[in-house]
Amino acid sequence: MSTAKPKRYNNTAILLHWLLAILITGLLVVGFFMPDLPKTPLRKVIYNLHKSFGLIVFALVLFRIYWRLSHAVPEHVPGSRLQVRLAHYAHIFIYALILVVPGIGLLASAFNHGFNLFVFHWEPLFTVNKALAHQIMGWHGVTAYLLAALLGLHLAAFFWHQFVQKDGLIRRIWFTAPY
Ligand code: HEM
Ligand code: HEM
Repeated sequence: MSTAKPKRYNNTAILLHWLLAILITGLLVVGFFMPDLPKTPLRKVIYNLHKSFGLIVFALVLFRIYWRLSHAVPEHVPGSRLQVRLAHYAHIFIYALILVVPGIGLLASAFNHGFNLFVFHWEPLFTVNKALAHQIMGWHGVTAYLLAALLGLHLAAFFWHQFVQKDGLIRRIWFTAPY
C-alpha cells in the first residue's frame, strides 16, 4: 500500500463515487415510493429493479471499501479539529450504511422472496419466515433513512466548501486537475 498522499482521488475512486451516488440516490427515491404503489404488475417490475440495483450496489460497495483500504487518499482539508473529525467519522458512517442498507435488504430477501438480478432469480437461502423478513425489512427502512440524513449532511458540507470556503474541494473527486 502506498503511503504518499495524492492530491486527488484516482479515476477508479472517482468513477465509483459518482456511479454509487447515482445508484444510491435512485434506490432511496424509488424505495421511498415503492411500498405505497398499487398492487399491479408495474409494482413487481419496480421491486425487481430495486432489488437488482441494490444487489449491484452491494457488490460495488464491497469493491469500493476494498479500494479505500488499499489506497492512499488525499489529506483531510485544513480545518478545525472538530471539522476534520466530523468529516472523518461522517465518511466512515456513510461507508458503513451503504454496506449495511443493501446487506439488510438481501438478508430479508433470504428469508422471503429470494434474490433478483433483472431476469435472474434465486430462491431464498433459508426457510421462508415472512414475519422475520418483515422485521428485518423494518431495519432496512430505518437504516436507509439514516443514510439519507447523512447524505443530506454530506451535501451540505459540499455546498459549504463550494460556496462559503470556496476551496474547490469537489475537484479532488472530479476528473479535472486538483486545486
Ligand atoms: C449517494 C450519494 C453519495 C455517497 C454515498 C457519497 C459518499 C462519499 C464518501 C464515503 C466519501 C469519502 C471518500 C473517502 O475519503 O473515502 C465522499 C467524498 C466526497 N463526496 Fe460524496 N457521496 C455521495 C454524493 C455526493 C454528492 C452529490 C456530492 C457533491 C455534489 C459529493 C461530494 C463529495 C466530495 C467533494 C468528496 C471528497 C471529499 C474530500 O476530498 O475529502 N458526494 N463521498
Ligand atoms: C443502497 C441500497 C439500497 C437502498 C438505499 C434502499 C432503500 C430503500 C428504501 C428507502 C426503502 C423504503 C423503506 C420504507 O419506507 O420502509 C426500501 C424498501 C425496500 N427495499 Fe431497499 N434499498 C437498497 C437495497 C435493497 C436491496 C439489496 C434489497 C433486496 C435485495 C432491497 C429490498 C427492498 C424491499 C423488498 C423493500 C420494500 C419493503 C416493503 O415493501 O415494505 N433493497 N429500500
